[in-house]
Parts: sequence; structure tokens; C-alpha cells
Amino acid sequence: MRSLIVYYSRSGQTAKIARELADALKCDLEEIIDTKKRSGILGWLRSGSDAMKKSLTVLERAVNDPAEYDLIVIGTPNWAGHVSSPVRTYIHQNQAKFKELAFFCTAGSNDFAGPFNDMHEISRKSPVATLGVRGKKINDGSYKSEVQEFIKTLPVNDI
Ligand SMILES: Cc1cc2nc3c(=O)[nH]c(=O)nc-3n(C[C@H](O)[C@H](O)[C@H](O)COP(=O)(O)O)c2cc1C
Repeated sequence: MRSLIVYYSRSGQTAKIARELADALKCDLEEIIDTKKRSGILGWLRSGSDAMKKSLTVLERAVNDPAEYDLIVIGTPNWAGHVSSPVRTYIHQNQAKFKELAFFCTAGSNDFAGPFNDMHEISRKSPVATLGVRGKKINDGSYKSEVQEFIKTLPVNDI
């Protein structure tokens, strides 16, 4: 079973989980790169506004073709209670290519339902598993057991 971890990360938290998942699953890792400037306070405000308006953005060309994978695990930060615009765009552009999906999300709070609902709606697929990780737990290291539990629920047979 071929698996791909795909993520967008503005400030590194979602990237950290994505790298751990790819290491543990020994699978390919794809970073979604947005062409829109997201850094600084203006970038923060623009990102929140884009997420609330459910706007799409312009992404750099992906390295991996999602059609070549049996399972795609997609990670996003929570932006204003929604999926981030780059991940919204990625799912929107590749929806027809997905076989099985799993989702993960990082957030300042425990609110993962909004982003997961968006991802489900755009992909038109129910995820086989979801993982929500709070920033506080990433910073103090206590997220690692949650990542391990999530991995156990994934339909992969090569670990
Ligand atoms: C524009 C913006 C809006 C955010 N809105 C929320 C929110 O509504 N709820 C929440 O819990 N965290 C919110 N956050 C915090 C991020 O979800 C959290 O810090 C996440 O781990 C960042 O991931 P990243 O480092 O991969 O970009 C927001 C962050 C940004 C940049």
C-alpha cells in the first residue's frame, strides 16, 4: 500500500507532525507551497480572511501525483475554524484522484471539527482516521503518543 503525507504549514507546527508521520510510515512527504505571502501580521490577517471566505489560492506545482497513492494523509492548520486555504485548494484540485484519505489538523485550541468538516466536504470522502493536535502538546512533546495512536488506526500494512 502506497501512502503519501501532504501538508501545509505556515509556522511549522503541522510540518512537525507531517514529518513524524512520514518517518514512522516510511512514506513520501509533500509540502503544499502557497504563492501568496502568509508571513507577518498582514499575512496572518489575510489567511484568516481567506479561510473564512473559503477562498482558493494559487499553489506551486506539486511534486507527487496523488493518483499514484492508495492512502493520502492530509494535514492542515486550523484557520479561523476552517481548513487553511492552501489545503482547501489542494483538495479541490485533486479531489478526483483520491482513493483513501485520512486527515490531521493542528490548532491553538481543541477545535478540529471545523477543518475536518471542510476537508470532508471538499474531498467528498469520509476519512479513515483523523488526528487533532493542540499546539501546546506539540510544544511540550506530549503529542507523540497521539501520533502513535493515529498511526495504529491507518490502513497500512507495511509498518
Ligand atoms: C490566520 C490564523 C487563524 C487561526 N485560527 C485559529 C482558530 O480559529 N482556532 C484555533 O484553535 N487556532 C487557530 N489558529 C492557530 C493555528 O491553527 C495553530 O497555531 C496551528 O498549529 C498553526 O499551524 P502551522 O504552524 O502548521 O501553521 C490560527 C492561526 C492562523 C495563522
